[in-house]
Amino acid sequence: MSSRNSASLAQRAEKLTVIEGLSPGPELSIIIPTFNERDNVVPMIERLRTALRGIAWEVIFVDDDSADRTLDVVRDLSTQDRRIRGIRRVNRRGLAGACVEGILSSSAPIVAVMDADLQHDETQLAGMLEIIRQGESDLVVATRYGEEQSSDGALTAIRQAGSRVAIRAAQRLLNVKTTDPMSGFFMARRSVVEQAAPKLSNQGFKILLDLIASSPSPLRIAEIPYIFRPRMHGESKMDASVVMDYLGLLISKWSGDLISARMVLFGLVGSSGVVLHLAVLRLLLLQGATFSVAQLGAMLVAMVSNYTLNNALTYRDRRRRGWRFVSGLVLFSLLCSVGIFAGVGVSSLFYGNRSRWWVAGLAGAIIGSAWNYITNSMITWRHAR
Ligand code: GDD
Ligand code: MN
Repeated sequence: MSSRNSASLAQRAEKLTVIEGLSPGPELSIIIPTFNERDNVVPMIERLRTALRGIAWEVIFVDDDSADRTLDVVRDLSTQDRRIRGIRRVNRRGLAGACVEGILSSSAPIVAVMDADLQHDETQLAGMLEIIRQGESDLVVATRYGEEQSSDGALTAIRQAGSRVAIRAAQRLLNVKTTDPMSGFFMARRSVVEQAAPKLSNQGFKILLDLIASSPSPLRIAEIPYIFRPRMHGESKMDASVVMDYLGLLISKWSGDLISARMVLFGLVGSSGVVLHLAVLRLLLLQGATFSVAQLGAMLVAMVSNYTLNNALTYRDRRRRGWRFVSGLVLFSLLCSVGIFAGVGVSSLFYGNRSRWWVAGLAGAIIGSAWNYITNSMITWRHAR
């Protein structure tokens, strides 16, 4: 839009304000994803009101149908204060997806994402806004690892070590220039998210890294250090799958989107199956089983393990439960059996044509895995239920 156009729009808005009592939209929209955060909503709002005096802001809570009815509290507050909004998402889960949806529902030129649990320091928001306003940065990351302080006192030792590895990996592999690519506290021009939106993943906690890695043009990133506070009410939703998810995204972006994060996870699960297979085979042979019995046992164990892990991780957005879990196992086993035959067939073909043994073996493994991935994505985990 040309500046003349927007100027006349602004004039019109002003006129309308006078004539009809309309008020213009906010400059800053704060997106807060929530999952069972009922007790944190009121203190959060109080803090925002104080921290954002003199700024035209709104807050959008994006709730995944929390059982504790977090959104009831939000709706209640909305009736008194029009700056407060809530989005209820049903049959969906995911921090990243909730943030993207909240941002896209907003019309404010600048958006911020922060947690509901009061761990993020809301007094940083005004400073972050000032940085974006100055026009030299597209994105401001509130970092727990600023120069002045190492501020992850609220994290456990294992999480600290894990975080450091994950950060190093993102910096090295993707050349991401921020000290805290896992931060859930940042501010950006909305246009940055609008541009990257079609490529962003809905799963997991890695929205910031995804945003940086998916932007069509390099982002100008600024940082602001803050102290990560301990959680007051409720509990963390972060678990091992969040870490795997991050790894999947990292490799996927590293490959230039050639392989998807889902493929990476499927491959990792498959590799764990190979290791398990060999371990069980060895164990059964040591127990005195005949080779074919031991091999059969190892295959079954690996198959069940692969299925269960894929269901919990690779396809957790389409997870099969109850009877569908059992029927899925049957489907998975059938499809993978075909995969094995196809793999063996291809290897033999290569080997028959005088390929080296390992070329033949690799070709078979690739064809078999590709078959397994494609057919299971299309059939076993076709869609969410
Ligand atoms: N809508 C929605 N859906 N919100 C969710 C979901 C979900 O599936 N999962 C978590 N949230 C919300 C929580 O209610 C909270 O407001 C925020 O997202 C962060 O979740 P926590 O469970 O409190 O995460 P954390 O404190 O363990 O993790 C923090 O550190 C991570 C990096 O170490 C957060 O700041 C993360 O954003 C950050 O990536
Ligand atoms: Mn938290």
